Amino acid sequence: MIKQEKVLVTGGTGYIGSHTAVELINSGFDVLIVDDLSNSDISALNGIEKITGVRPEFENFDLCDKSGVRELFNKYKISSVIHFAAFKAVGESVQLPLKYYRNNLVSLLNLLDEANDGKTEALVFSSSCTIYGQPKDLPVTEDAPVIPAESPYGNTKQICEEIIRDTCSVNEKIKAISLRYFNPVGAHETGLIGELPSGVPTNLVPFITQAAAGIRKELRVFGDDYNTPDGSCIRDFIHVVDLAKAHVVALNRILGHNQKSNYEFFNIGTGNGISVLQLIKTFEDVTGVKLNYKIVEKRPGDIEQIWADTTIANRELGWKAEMGVREMMDTAWKWQQNIANKK
Ligand SMILES: NC(=O)c1ccc[n+]([C@@H]2O[C@H](COP(=O)([O-])OP(=O)(O)OC[C@H]3O[C@@H](n4cnc5c(N)ncnc54)[C@H](O)[C@@H]3O)[C@@H](O)[C@H]2O)c1
Repeated sequence: MIKQEKVLVTGGTGYIGSHTAVELINSGFDVLIVDDLSNSDISALNGIEKITGVRPEFENFDLCDKSGVRELFNKYKISSVIHFAAFKAVGESVQLPLKYYRNNLVSLLNLLDEANDGKTEALVFSSSCTIYGQPKDLPVTEDAPVIPAESPYGNTKQICEEIIRDTCSVNEKIKAISLRYFNPVGAHETGLIGELPSGVPTNLVPFITQAAAGIRKELRVFGDDYNTPDGSCIRDFIHVVDLAKAHVVALNRILGHNQKSNYEFFNIGTGNGISVLQLIKTFEDVTGVKLNYKIVEKRPGDIEQIWADTTIANRELGWKAEMGVREMMDTAWKWQQNIANKK
């Protein structure tokens, strides 16, 4: 039997991976998900199936298991890989650096070993704007210097990009794109998939929606005396579905042989900076729910402001973020209410 070509989505039951699986299926790709469910729930597969009518194939194992990865590539014909699987809590990475280095680096190395053996030629990698730290010039462009990372998590993203770049430079058959995400928020418009933090959320929007749902007593805003118009930090929030679509476009660029070199990287944001307080006000406005928030001390390591220059991504990928902050807040709230109804 001829094996059908699949796109391997690692971390595909997670937040960004599940939204990307939906967009890939809607674009006609055959999706295979690998996830060890260390930070996600198997029920994401139900959400993907309800939205697309297709239940992707799923394998539950840890990508740090080298023999497991090898068996996977022998079992399936994997024409391309979108690699989301990683640990991502910045604060925890400071406390447990080895956990982060081991997971985020070894999983990538195991996948690249298979690619080096000629089993797959296309890789899209989840990178992050954390690699820029606090840039001197805003909006930040792809050629801004990559400065020493503020956390082991950020460092894993820098090192992973370097590993991919170095591998591509000696093996022209491997074609890769790193997407440097800004701040993904929101959920699918159906409210059937979204961000599902385990324990206390470390990201702002799940904290906002949980505070609005009464799960968290109080929302803390870290600092109101930054050098920004309202004193709170500024980020480039991007709707997760826009981000998911960028992966489909990046994959098609590789598969269509449209790359300018076999390793490329792009900023994936909206190009607009929104402050934390603006985001909170928009949430209140869109949902009609008043948030109980308190300004507290700045958090060490938080950068003041960052937003993307997306000129190159817009031009080269022919992709542009379409959704605004209101849709981000509306869908995040819909998802939160959906989870509450399931309990
Ligand atoms: N969410 C963000 O704000 C953000 C920003 C920039 C970059 N990123 C990156 O995007 C990627 C996806 O992020 P997300 O927000 O969807 O996170 P997530 O935690 O929801 O998804 C990651 C998934 O990978 C799985 N996983 C982790 N290690 C694994 C392993 N060794 N083997 C198998 N599965 C494993 C987890 O169970 C989880 O389902 C990550 O690489 C993250 O670093 C996220």
